[in-house]
Amino acid sequence: MGDTPGLRAAEFRLVLGHFPTGVVVVTAGGPSAPVGLSVNSFTSVSLDPPLVAFCADRRSRSWAGIRSAGAFCVNVLGQDQEALSRVFAMRGADRFEGVGWSPAPSGAPLLDGVLAWVDCTIDAVHDGGDHEICVGLVQAHGVEREDGPLVFYRGGYGRFEP
Ligand SMILES: Cc1cc2nc3c(=O)[nH]c(=O)nc-3n(C[C@H](O)[C@H](O)[C@H](O)COP(=O)(O)O)c2cc1C
Repeated sequence: MGDTPGLRAAEFRLVLGHFPTGVVVVTAGGPSAPVGLSVNSFTSVSLDPPLVAFCADRRSRSWAGIRSAGAFCVNVLGQDQEALSRVFAMRGADRFEGVGWSPAPSGAPLLDGVLAWVDCTIDAVHDGGDHEICVGLVQAHGVEREDGPLVFYRGGYGRFEP
């Protein structure tokens, strides 16, 4: 580990980057003010009751919008949706510009072309250091198409090879 906090943080990121994840876009809000951000901390939590979770940076504006909406839709990205992952992590971008979507049962955007989606109400928000751990109670879900997932690994994008 490095001596300074900055080096320690870089080392920590590097180590954690060796754990591959999928990528989801967590969305909320209706047609007039949709919000959404790319997330790779998504995980399943419980089958009964059906719970999922993701970790949100406390500084995230999109997370503030999701939290106040009280509901969100998890959009699981396919291997051909890297551009969406990048746009939904970009500050200052109009993230929904040119992106087709329809409302999930909660009203949150269900993005066109995703592999699967999970629509939730916020069940709990736990302290997670500089992040908050959002636990969602699943209200509806679906599979849209069968294709390979978008994979995030060591800071870059890739595909799943069985
Ligand atoms: C692949 C990928 C995974 C990400 N995972 C997370 C995450 O799990 N939690 C989080 O808060 N931000 C994550 N981010 C960063 C957010 O997408 C980004 O900080 C956010 O969109 C900033 O804009 P906002 O202030 O409007 O939320 C991720 C970004 C990328 C590209």
